[in-house]
Amino acid sequence: MIKVLDKHFIIDTKSLTYIMHVNSVGYLIHDYFGDHIEVKDVTALGLKEGFAKGTSVVVDEDIDPNFSANNQLLEYSFTQKGDYREPAIILRNNSRGYTFDFRYHEYKIVKPQDIEILPMPHDLDDELIIVLKEANLDIYVELHYYISNKHDVLVKNVVFRNEDKEEITLEKIASLQFDLINKDYELVNLNGNWISETHATSQKIHPGIYINDSKTGNSSNKHNPFFMIKTSDTKNDYGEAYSFNLMYSGNHQEVVELNIFGNLHIQTGINPFLFSYNVKQGEKFITPFALMTYSSKGTNVLGQRMHDFINDCVVNKNFGHCLRPVVINNWEGTYFNFNEVKLLNIARTASKFGVELFVLDDGWFSNRNDDFHGLGDYDVNKKKLPSGLKGLAKKINKLGMKFGLWFEPESINIESKLYKAHPEYAIAQDGVKPSRERHQLLLNLAKKEVQDYIIENVNNTLKSANIEYVKWDMNRDISDIPNKGKEAGEFYHNYMLGLYRVIREITKQNPTVLFENCASGGNRLDLGMMHYFPQTWASDCSDSYERISIQGGLYLGYPQSCISCHVSHKSNHQTLRKTPYSSKFNTAAFGVLGYELMLNELTKVEKEEIKNQIAFYKKHRELLQYGDFYTIKEKKYEGDGATWMIQSKDHKEAIFGVFNGIQSTRPHEFVLKGFNFLEGKQYSFEVLNQPHDLKLFGNLVNMILPIHVNADGWLIQTVSKFKTMEMETTKWTVDGALLNSGLILKSEWAGNGYSENSRVLADFGSRLYYVKVEE
Ligand code: DGJ
Repeated sequence: MIKVLDKHFIIDTKSLTYIMHVNSVGYLIHDYFGDHIEVKDVTALGLKEGFAKGTSVVVDEDIDPNFSANNQLLEYSFTQKGDYREPAIILRNNSRGYTFDFRYHEYKIVKPQDIEILPMPHDLDDELIIVLKEANLDIYVELHYYISNKHDVLVKNVVFRNEDKEEITLEKIASLQFDLINKDYELVNLNGNWISETHATSQKIHPGIYINDSKTGNSSNKHNPFFMIKTSDTKNDYGEAYSFNLMYSGNHQEVVELNIFGNLHIQTGINPFLFSYNVKQGEKFITPFALMTYSSKGTNVLGQRMHDFINDCVVNKNFGHCLRPVVINNWEGTYFNFNEVKLLNIARTASKFGVELFVLDDGWFSNRNDDFHGLGDYDVNKKKLPSGLKGLAKKINKLGMKFGLWFEPESINIESKLYKAHPEYAIAQDGVKPSRERHQLLLNLAKKEVQDYIIENVNNTLKSANIEYVKWDMNRDISDIPNKGKEAGEFYHNYMLGLYRVIREITKQNPTVLFENCASGGNRLDLGMMHYFPQTWASDCSDSYERISIQGGLYLGYPQSCISCHVSHKSNHQTLRKTPYSSKFNTAAFGVLGYELMLNELTKVEKEEIKNQIAFYKKHRELLQYGDFYTIKEKKYEGDGATWMIQSKDHKEAIFGVFNGIQSTRPHEFVLKGFNFLEGKQYSFEVLNQPHDLKLFGNLVNMILPIHVNADGWLIQTVSKFKTMEMETTKWTVDGALLNSGLILKSEWAGNGYSENSRVLADFGSRLYYVKVEE
C-alpha cells in the first residue's frame, strides 16, 4: 500500500515500510526502510541535520540556509548543487553545460503498466511516481517506486523526460539510489570468472567509494549485479541485511560510498562507462528496473524474500512455478563429435533412467565441427543428422523425452555463410580490425535488420521440428563498438534493447518453449535474462566441489528454480578433480537437475545410482526447486565444506545437504542444526542411501576379504563395476525442536571406523537427509 501523510510518502510492502518526504527546498529526503512501522508523528523520522556542516554548499539559502545536500539521505543525487558524493544522474546540454536545478514537482499513484522495451517485473500492485522538474527548463526526472502486496521487495526505476527544445545528453542515470546511516556494514559481492562464477566475497566498508561493475557489454561473470550490505555481526539467521539487484543484462555499476560522517550512499544502474545517451525533445529515457529488500532476521530470510519475488514477479509468467524437467545434454559427453547414432545411444539410456528432456548442444548446423566455423548459419548438418532435427526430435519423443536445442544466435564466425553474405552484420568499427573471442565476432543487435534475421531464423528452426526447449548461448564479451561520433555512447544500451526485442519476440511467438539462458555459463546471469528465460546455466564448471561456491553465492539472491546444475563425468573436465557421483548429484539437486555425460558408458552400479538419484529428485522436485533455501554453513575457504537446507513453506518437509571439503584427520562431531521446524511435532529423519565405490578404500579392502587382492588390479576394477560398499544407516524419529537445536550425526570416519555406525565421507563426500513431519 502507498499513502501520503504530511508530505511523507509511506510505502508498505507485506512486512516492510519505506518512507521519504519532500523538504522545504523541494528535495526528496529518505527517512526509513525496515520492518513495518506505523507512523503517527513524522517529526521523529529520518536524519536530523539542523545545520550545514563545515564547508558545505547550501542549495538555496533564501529558503533554508541550513540545508546542504552533501550530508543528507537523498532519494536521488544531482551535480552542481553541493552534493559531492557520486551523482545518480549526470546531464549535459549546449546552453547549460552540467548545471541544472531539479526540485519536487508532483506525485502520482497509479497501476503499473508493462513498458515492453525493457524487462519489467509483472504482477505489481501499485506504483508511486515522484516527479522532479528543472527550475527553468521543461525537463523532468521521474522516480518510480513499485510494490507487489504479497512480497517484501521494493522495485525502483527512473524516467528522464525531455520536453524542452534542446537535446540533452545523459552521461549517467542510476536506477536506484538508497542512502542510509552506516551500522558497521560489510559489502558482499558475487565475483568470479569463467568456471568460477559468483563466489561470495565480503569486505568491511570504510570511508571511500566501492565500485562493482561490468564493462564487458554483458552483466558478466566477473562481477554480478547482485549485492548485499549487512552488519558485521549479521548471520544466516540473525541480524540486519539489505540486498539489491538490477534487471539488466549489459554494463552495470553498483556504487557504495561511505562519507566520514557515517552516511552510506548506494546506487545501481547502467554503467556510465562509455555511456552517453542523447534525448531529444519529446523523448524519454527509461532506466532498467532495480530491486531491493531488507531483513532484520538474517541473510536466509533476505534471500528467501528475493527468491519469492523472482519466482512470482520476475520469471516469465508461463514458467513461474512450473516444475523444471530433468535434462540430458550431450555437450561434455561428445562435444562436436557426434552423430545421430551416438546421440540416440545416450538418449536411450537416459530415458530408461527417467530423464525427461534431451538437449542437443553445439554443432548441429552448417560446418560447425569446431569453434572456428558456422556461427550465424542455421542449416542442419545432414552428415551428422541424416533425418534432420525433425527426425531426431521424433525419435527422442518416441523414447518418452522432450527434445531441446542449443543456439548461439548473437554470434558469427568469419567462416560462415552469413559472414560471406553480410559482413556488415558483425560488430566492427570502420578501419579497425575487430578482435575475436573464441574465434568469433558478435552480430550487431542494435541494428533492426540483424534483429529480424535472428528472429526469423530462430523461429523457422523452432517450427521445423518438435523443439520444446532452447538453450540460448552467447560466448563472448563485446569489443570494437561500431557507433561513431556522438552516437558512440549509445551502443551498449542499444545492443541490450535489440537483444530484449529479439528474445521478447521469440518467447512471445513460442510461449510453450522453455528457454535456458547461457553465456559460457554465467557470463550473463541476471534478472533481465531471467525475465524471458526462466532458467540459467550457471557455470561451465560442473565440478561438485566448485559448485558449492558457485551455487552458494548465487542462492544469496537467485532462486534454485532458475539455476541449472548438471552431473558430469566423475573425472571433471574443468578441474580434473574426481568426485563421487553422489556428491555431483547432491549439489546439483539444489537446483534444476541435469546430466551431461555418456550415460550409456557407465558401469552397472553407476547406472543404478543415477536411476535412484533421478527418482529421488523427481519425488522431491517441488520442494527442491521452490522450497525456502537456507545456508546453514557456507564454504569459507578452499578445502572447507558447507551445509544447506531447503524447507517447505509449511515447515513440514526439508532436505539437508552436508558437503565435505578436504577430509580432516580430526573430524569434529557434526551437529546438524536446522531452522523453523515445528516444535513438538515428530519428524522422520533419514539419509539418502548412496553406497560407496569399492575403490574408495584402496588396499584397505584386504582387511575384510578372505584373500589378498591387488587394490589397483583387474579383480577390484571389475568387481567395483557390479558391487558397492554399504554406507551408514540413519533412520530416526525426532522432535522439530531437536532439529532446531541440533541433531548430532553419527561420528565420522577418522582413519578407522568403517561400520554402519560411522559416516565415511572422504574428500568432497556428501550426504542428503530427508526430513518429513509424521502426521
Ligand atoms: C558454452 C556453454 O556454456 C556450454 O555449455 C556449451 O553449450 C558450449 N558453449 C558450446 O559451444
